[in-house]
Amino acid sequence: MTPDLSNDIDVGALRADTPSCAGVIHLNNAGASPSPDPVHQAVTAHLDLERRIGGYAAAEVAAEGLAAFYDEAAGLLNAQPDEIAFVENATRAWDLAFHALPWTEGDRVLTHGAAEYASNMLAFLHEAKRRGIVVDQAPSDETGQVDVTALEAMIGPRTRLIALTHVPTHCGLVNPAEAVGAVARRHGITYLLDACQSAGQILLDVGQIGCDMLSATGRKFLRGPRGTGFLYVRRDFAETLDPPMIDLVAARWSGATRYDLAPGARRFETFERNVAGQIGLGRAIRYARAVGINKIAKRVGNLTNNLRARLSETPGVSLHDPGAQRCGIVSFRCRDEPADITLARLADRRIMASVSRIEMARTDFEAIGLEALVRLSVHSFNTEREVNQAVDVVRR
Ligand SMILES: Cc1ncc(COP(=O)(O)O)c(C=O)c1O
Repeated sequence: MTPDLSNDIDVGALRADTPSCAGVIHLNNAGASPSPDPVHQAVTAHLDLERRIGGYAAAEVAAEGLAAFYDEAAGLLNAQPDEIAFVENATRAWDLAFHALPWTEGDRVLTHGAAEYASNMLAFLHEAKRRGIVVDQAPSDETGQVDVTALEAMIGPRTRLIALTHVPTHCGLVNPAEAVGAVARRHGITYLLDACQSAGQILLDVGQIGCDMLSATGRKFLRGPRGTGFLYVRRDFAETLDPPMIDLVAARWSGATRYDLAPGARRFETFERNVAGQIGLGRAIRYARAVGINKIAKRVGNLTNNLRARLSETPGVSLHDPGAQRCGIVSFRCRDEPADITLARLADRRIMASVSRIEMARTDFEAIGLEALVRLSVHSFNTEREVNQAVDVVRR
């Protein structure tokens, strides 16, 4: 059989590595994408080894795979391995970065409220209540992305952090992370990027973006195991940070009343961790890089262009699709049907999708006056046929 090499990607090979494609249409890759076989095998092989010789001995045997994670994550971001911390999810990675900053009453954080992830907004509200920080929300421009000029104009003497979500959880908007990075650098303000939904589907280069810290998860577009994520912290910047919590990996107990923080991003790690998960995430990043992030982005772009076009010409369907640049997440609703019913109809046809709710992105949902949207999220191993089948179900 001739391989399908659309956009220079061997889709057949990707699907062969994802056996569940035979029975299920995976369009919830922004939720949790199925891991390809090499990732699954790396994880299960390590779990088997733990069962045979015990977790500590197994971790020693797996030292290479554990170290490979740092090289792969660094390679993904064009960073250095010592700038990466393995963390159990993107929320904790982001939290560790945010709470390591020396917040005092009256300090301000500047964000794009329409895109910022719910847990990040909750962290702002929590610190506003506990320590009296102030949250400034930059508006969207006419395309729906953060208004970079307005954001810059909102910077004041107490602005300590610009926190941006690159791709929100509930729509396909890609925020202009580099333009915001240029603003942050011009004003000497710390910049934290939530790249949870972009990692694995958009090329990320921390030098070009100009961020000091970046958080990501394993299980979404990177197709790693659940319960994995990572934090990037720029090397020089890491030395200025006090992690909110430390253990005997994050620091060395060097005297009765003394400790020395670990250098670089490792000060944000803990001893106990999901070792199989770390190995699996390293393998997943290697897999994605071998396919090529730019090739993944191009194929995802082509598939979602078709999905957007077909949904937007469907009577009774309205898209929520802001942004000058957009990615593999497409959100919509059927005007005569609650989102959960559309989701159930898709599930009946073995199409995995999800529903984004107001609690996940309150600022934007309130602005558009909705409570819920159906979310379809496409990956490189999906096909035009699968996308068309999903549209046919939406259309009934
Ligand atoms: C934009 C964004 N940031 C952060 C997160 C949190 O990631 P995790 O569930 O790995 O903590 C999500 C999860 O959906 C997300 O969409």
